[in-house]
Amino acid sequence: MENKADTKKGSSSNKLFPMAHAEGPYNYAKNSNYQKTGWDLIKRLTSEEISKKLDVEHLISPGNVFRIADMGCSFGPNTFFAVQDIVEAVKSKQNQSKHMEFQVFFNDHSANDFNTLFRTLPSERSYFAAGVPGSFYGSLFPKASLHFALSSYTMHWMSKIPRQVQDQSSSVWNKGRIFYGSSKKVEEAYAAQFANDFESFLRARAEEVVPGGFMTLLIPGTQNGANLLKCTSVAISELLGSSLMDMAKEGPSYRRTRVWGSRPS
Ligand SMILES: C[S@@+](CC[C@H](N)C(=O)[O-])C[C@H]1O[C@@H](n2cnc3c(N)ncnc32)[C@H](O)[C@@H]1O
Repeated sequence: MENKADTKKGSSSNKLFPMAHAEGPYNYAKNSNYQKTGWDLIKRLTSEEISKKLDVEHLISPGNVFRIADMGCSFGPNTFFAVQDIVEAVKSKQNQSKHMEFQVFFNDHSANDFNTLFRTLPSERSYFAAGVPGSFYGSLFPKASLHFALSSYTMHWMSKIPRQVQDQSSSVWNKGRIFYGSSKKVEEAYAAQFANDFESFLRARAEEVVPGGFMTLLIPGTQNGANLLKCTSVAISELLGSSLMDMAKEGPSYRRTRVWGSRPS
């Protein structure tokens, strides 16, 4: 079952953008080392905070089940590494006399490649796995039912493109670019959309995560006041954006002659 936010968004625009499915060479599982490096950098911090602050015994009583959700999990393998690290950090705090069980919810848009996710679940895992389709900008779980919410490299994925940046008659029109470039107004429109989305995310999690529960969010960003033109991610987005616009201008022939490598006739 999809949550309300996914259904509403799907019906108004029918545009959910999951990662490319597992068939083919360009799929996410084969192209997500960058995101893996991000998790590798913060996993120690997450484990340390769990070790210092998580009151496991208090949180899981009376059922002795610890519930984790990875929101925007895609289909692996990064989600499996992250979830395993969290399970191990929580286990290390456990009172050995009590048997604790883990349940992990893998969430992403309903169009995500959940089949591959479940087919490739680690066989040695020490948790029960479940899929939760739907947008994390809406409510996904019953009240106070989660102990740990994780979301890694997802928050830059806004719920929609701000209307005015696509409107040619608006002074905020972004001229078809995929990136805000040097326009302050376009930047502000995207920032407002992000603030809106992020608030929806936090409101939903505030309901779902138990008091004393944990959340790790890994969000790509730039420092306030940084010279954006010197940021690698900005430079890549600019370059990618201008290449995509060139391809779009050339039209379908571009796909035939260049992307798929067949010879122009
Ligand atoms: C860059 S991938 C990150 C995947 C994984 N967390 C990792 O670190 O490798 C972003 C994922 O977020 C998902 N996503 C984006 N917006 C979402 C939303 N509103 N609700 C649920 N998932 C979303 C996308 O479908 C995609 O699978």
